[in-house]
Parts: sequence; structure tokens; C-alpha cells
Amino acid sequence: MVQINGCIELAVVDGVALILADNPPVNALGHAVREGLVAAVRQAVADAAVRAIVLGCKGRMFFAGADITEFGKPLKQPGLQEVIAEFEASPKPVVAAIFGTALGGGLEIALGCHFRVASADARMGLPEVKLGLLPGAGGTQRLPRLVGPQKAVAMIVAGAPVGAKQALADGIIDEIVAEPVAGAVAFAKRVLAEAVPLVKVRDRAAKILPVRENPAAFEAAAKAALKKLAGVDAPAACVESVRNSFMLPFEAGLAAERDLFMKLVVGDQSRAQRHIFFAEREAAKVPDMPAGVKPAVIKKAVVIGGGTMGGGIAMCFANAGVPVSIVETTEEFLAKGLARIQQTYAVSVERGALQQDAMDKRVALITGTLDWNVIADTDIVIEAVFEEIGLKKEIFGKLDKIAKPGTLLASNTSTLDVDAIAESTSRPGDVVGMHFFSPANVMKLLEIVRSSHSSMAAIATAVAAGKLLGKIPVVVGNCDGFVGNRMLARRSTECERLLLEGAKPQDVDAVVVKFGFPMGPYAMGDLAGLDVGWRIRKGRGVKAPVSDALCEAGRFGQKTGKGYYIYENGSRVPVPDAEVIELAAQKAEALGIKRRNISEPEIFERMFYPMINEAARILEEGIAVRASDIDVVWAYGYGWPVWQGGPCFYADLVGAKVICEALEHYAAMSGDAGLQPSALLRKLAETGGKFSDIGVAAKVAA
Ligand code: 3HC
Ligand code: NAI
Repeated sequence: MVQINGCIELAVVDGVALILADNPPVNALGHAVREGLVAAVRQAVADAAVRAIVLGCKGRMFFAGADITEFGKPLKQPGLQEVIAEFEASPKPVVAAIFGTALGGGLEIALGCHFRVASADARMGLPEVKLGLLPGAGGTQRLPRLVGPQKAVAMIVAGAPVGAKQALADGIIDEIVAEPVAGAVAFAKRVLAEAVPLVKVRDRAAKILPVRENPAAFEAAAKAALKKLAGVDAPAACVESVRNSFMLPFEAGLAAERDLFMKLVVGDQSRAQRHIFFAEREAAKVPDMPAGVKPAVIKKAVVIGGGTMGGGIAMCFANAGVPVSIVETTEEFLAKGLARIQQTYAVSVERGALQQDAMDKRVALITGTLDWNVIADTDIVIEAVFEEIGLKKEIFGKLDKIAKPGTLLASNTSTLDVDAIAESTSRPGDVVGMHFFSPANVMKLLEIVRSSHSSMAAIATAVAAGKLLGKIPVVVGNCDGFVGNRMLARRSTECERLLLEGAKPQDVDAVVVKFGFPMGPYAMGDLAGLDVGWRIRKGRGVKAPVSDALCEAGRFGQKTGKGYYIYENGSRVPVPDAEVIELAAQKAEALGIKRRNISEPEIFERMFYPMINEAARILEEGIAVRASDIDVVWAYGYGWPVWQGGPCFYADLVGAKVICEALEHYAAMSGDAGLQPSALLRKLAETGGKFSDIGVAAKVAA
């Protein structure tokens, strides 16, 4: 065995050269790996004793793609295209031994090999689009030659990986093997024994020539893939490049792919998406977590309350294979809650998103009970009862008496003081907030609310539980609304003001949707139910004249057929309603507010800048420890478009000075001191600083 460099080794066994990469944790194709691969393949080709080559990896997976940390920096040669060209040009058969995941550049290097085998549980795909990119090392040219341009465009624009079975059926791999390297060696020997011709993927024309003659089916597939992706650069570039695969000669297609990649990689959209990729992984890290704190193992869970959230949370556990009991107050509520879960799963089965046997397994993991003793031996309890502090305190007092020592006691409260909840137990250290978002079985975000009492072990267990449930956990501090809803409240205040001042819901929603949100705030309010906010406002003695009046008139949104919009005959499509404008005009008159035409830029600023200002306060107070955590909360909990990077990333693009000046203007206009720029934002404006410069801070001195 020869160690080519720190990442690559080469061994020749029985005429087969084994080139193995070892670059933990994911075998990213960084510079040293690329350099080592070129040296290794050249050596193998030059070695007369070598008759075939196997390319494999050590560790958890085949190559997970290019090293994303190298993007945006000057490329160090050899580039990935050059590495792939070396393998492709080998006169000796090269077999890729895929296992774990082969993603992006990882799959592209495999496509440059003459043959590919994979273990049965391997997954492979070209997810570059999720980083605002297109596959830049031949993926858009080689994949269409294997699977056909239609399938390739769907796969590349979605960025979704496929399993080995599907990959075999589609022609991406040649064989499924029990053990990747041994299987690849056996495959290589068979190729030699049977003198199988070495047809490079680049030379395969059977699937692209007919499409060049008649591209209609491709254009239809491309259109379908691009649906709902207007304004995003990468998917369109993916389509253009896959089209090149059948319109241009291979080398020209490859060169065009490279140009498109280089353009995207320096663009703000890809920078934003790469930022979110790393931010998501950072968010789960707790800076003051001492080394050696181990999360508790979660084998059994209990959810208190089987309503909207409790049911969804129970499904999360079942989906993760963890048995879960739901505790309710009456048989009737229990039956209702369990039936709703059944129904939600059944819809997934109907849609083909879930197999019936998988549903049956999951449903079997969920039991319901009225007996609190079920809590005695559980590892985690998540409370999801009505949002009333008295009730929550009573429940936590009860949990304290029954749960075994060390059980994580979590509340799904969205507004209440987690400190106060913790203090109703004799073990406040074991209490955290676990704020799921609705629908809990779908939404990825999980705000883990750290109270002033929460122990490090409890936080570690909550983070681990979040990951187990497939969520993106973000640890946040305890305050009204935590991170997400606290910022959202600023937007809601502006929404109400804009209505009174003369903006129409549809105009405001259009601005927010144009930015890339799936829905505007009014349509979102109608979907969630306007009564939710109304009840909270009433509890706090806060008024919102237009929205309150809508609720008083029984207009709760979609569920009542009317809210800010009209929903006719059960439709979910919002239709503007002149009555709402009239109502807003009346309320404005009563309050002496002069109505006017409000420009799109003003709407935009008032939708986004107050939230950015609140983000700065959240950082000042240490409620979030990183600006990027706030971006993750908004990307995964509220539909902030990932290609806009989250509120703090976006603020850095605009510049704190511009935002400060606008906020001062709106603060003066409204008389709302809450719109005055926060100390941190002012500081960034004065120094030309950025949120991204702040780094990790338990508390940011503004
Ligand atoms: N480059 C650099 N670092 C990477 C990386 C990559 N491609 N992929 C993962 N990492 C890092 C993560 O940031 C994380 O670092 P940390 O421990 O310091 O936080 C560490 O590796 C482990 O990653 P995960 O926590 O995500 O590990 P998982 O086991 O949960 O997931 C994975 C593994 C499915 C491979 C996931 O990491 C992933 O999806 N990675 C990105 C894959 C990808 O997008 N590949 C395409 C890259 S672009 C490309 O190839 C361009 C080409 O066409 C030219
Ligand atoms: P819900 O009203 O749908 O469900 C509450 C359930 O708790 C009911 O089924 C009720 O019977 C049950 N319950 C009440 N008292 C109980 C008790 N003593 N023991 C056992 N069960 C009891 O309410 P929803 O919407 O599920 O909210 C639950 C919690 O989740 C609240 O704290 C809410 O603030 C929070 N939350 C709600 C979100 C939403 O969008 N609905 C989003 C995030 C958090």
C-alpha cells in the first residue's frame, strides 16, 4: 500500500489498483483529495501490474461532493473536472465503489468512471441546486447520457437523491453489491475476464440523440421542474445546462456548464444558500456546552395533550421509530386526537408519499391513555396543552411527581415564560421549551428554549431529541415569542398599520411573495386562523382595530371562508375583498389616520426592516447566540427564501446604514419608539459592520 498523501492511498491487489480516499467526516473533494486522486490514478495507469482500478472511500460514505468551504475562493488546481478527466481517460477499466452517499461532485466523479457499483443502502444525487449552484463537474452533461435528459433535469432541478435500487433501474449504476470495495473489485475482474468494452459515459448518445430531434418532452419536463421557482437563478441554469447536453457537443456542453457554475458561485443567491447550509449545522452547537456532556438516550416518549400540536409531535416520534403515548383529559378528546393522526397518515398514503405498511408501523407506535402513570418510565415528556400558564404549571407540578429522575420535561409553549414553568417543579434544570411549528410533523424548525434554570444535560438531550425527530434544532433564550414569533410580532404590527394607512392585503402579500416567501402575511394569517392572534391580543390588552373587527365579525380566515380575503366554496385561493378595504377605511377615519397610496418600496421596508431591527435586539440580549441562528429560524420556520439567506444575511446585503435611516424615518412617522434602530444596528451602521462579523457571543455588547 502506498500513501499518496494525507487523504489518498493506493494499493494493488491481484492486478486491481484500489484508490481509497479518507477525508472525514464526509470525504469532501477538497484540494488535497483532488491532488491525491490525480497522482494515484496516474500511478495506477502507469503501473504495468495494474489491469483495472477501483475508486472507493473509507469512513461513512463515498464522496459527499466538492468541499463547499472552498467555494468563492480562488480555485486550486487540479479542479474536479480535471480529476474526473484523468479517471475517464484511463485505458484501464475504472469502477466506482459507492456506499453511504455519493452527492454532487461525488456522483460526478463516479459518472466519470467506466462503471459504478453501489451498496443496497447507498443514495446518490446532484444536490448542487440546494446550494444555489448547478453540478459543475460534468453532472449536467453525463447524467442525461445515462438516464435521459427528462429524468436528469427533474433530478438535478429537485436536487433530490435516489436510492441504489432506483439508480440501478435508471442506469446510473451497473450493479448493487453486498460490500462496495469487494463488490467493485469482483466487478472489475469480471469486466477484464469478459473483455467488456469501456464505453465512457460522455460517448453514450442513445438517450440524448432522440431528444435533440424532438425536445418537446424535455421542455415539458423542464417546465414542470421549474414550476414555482421563478426568480431563483440556479434551477434555470440547471435546465439550460441539461439542454446543452443534447444540443452541444460534449466538450462545449462541459465548458458552458463551467461558465454557468462560475457565474452562480459568486452570486448572492448561492452565497445565501451556502450560508444557510453551514448556519443550519452551526445552530445546533451550544457554545458554552462543556465537553463530555452526553444527551440522554430516548427510547420512549410521552406527549401531554393530543390536539393540533400534540398529535403532530407524537407523529414525529413515531416517524423516528420511538414509541410514544399521548395523555389526554377525556376518552373523547383522545379518540379525536388519535383519529386525526390516522387521517393525516392516510392522506400521505393516498398521495403515495407513504407506504401502507410504514403507516401501520407508525400508528402502532402511538398509544393513547388517560393514565398519567405512563409518564413514570418515559425518557422525555413534551407538554402541548392549552396556552395557559396556570394549567402548564399544574401539569409540570404533576410531571415532577411522576417522572423518573433525569426525564426531560419540555413544554411546547409558544408565548409563555419557560422559567416560570420550570419553577413549578422541584427539578427546574430538567425543564426546557421545545417550540415546534405547525404542522409539527412537517415543519423542520425546532426552537429549543433554554430557561435560566435549564441544565446543560437537558439542553443536550433536547438538541439530540430534535435531531432524532429530523428537526433543525436552534437553541434560543427565554423571552416573549423567543426568536421567530418575537420578530414576527414586529411584522404583524406593520401589517395592521399598513391596512389603516391605505395598503391593501393583496398588495402587501404580493411584495412579500415577490421576495420569495411562499405566502404573504395576510394569506398566512388566514391559513393559521385569525382567532389565534386575536385571543393572544385580548389576553394582553393589545388592540389591532382592523384585525379585531374582522374577528368580531366571525372572519377567522380560511376555516370560516372569510378573513383578510374571501375563500369561496371551501377554496384555499384568497380572493381580495372590498369590504376589508372599506372596514380599514372606516377604522382609519375613526382614528384620524389619513389614508394614502403606499409604494412598493415602502411596503417592502416596513415588512422587513422592523424584523431585522428586532433580530439585532435579540442578539444584543443574547436570546440568539449567532446572527446565523436567526437566519435558520426564519428559513425553516417561516418560509424565508433560502436564496435570500435569512434576515441577518439579507441585512448585510442591504447594509445597516440604509436600514437604520429607513427605521428612523418610520419611527418618526408612526411615533413608535420600537421602530427606532437598536443599539447594535446603530453600531453596525456607524462602523460599516455586518451581522456576519459578530460571530458567537453569549451576549453582544452593542
Ligand atoms: N463540503 C464541506 N463540508 C461539508 C460538506 C461539503 N460538501 N458536506 C458536509 N460538510 C461538513 C458539514 O458542514 C459538517 O461540518 P461540522 O461537523 O463542522 O458542522 C460535517 O461535514 C458533517 O456534515 P453533516 O452534519 O451534514 O453530516 P450528515 O452525516 O448529517 O450528512 C451529508 C452528510 C448528507 C453528506 C450532508 O453533509 C450533505 O448533504 N452535505 C452536502 C452535500 C452536497 O451538497 N454536495 C454537493 C456539493 S457542491 C458540488 O459538489 C459542486 C460540484 O458539482 C462541482
Ligand atoms: P389544541 O387546543 O389543539 O390542543 C390542546 C390539547 O390539550 C387539547 O386536545 C386538550 O384536550 C388537551 N389538554 C388540555 N388540558 C389537558 C390536560 N390537563 N391534560 C392533558 N391534555 C390536556 O392546542 P394546540 O394548538 O395544539 O396548542 C398546544 C400548545 O402548543 C400551546 O401551548 C400552543 O401555544 C403551542 N403551540 C401551538 C402552535 C399552533 O400553531 N397551534 C404552534 C406552536 C406552539
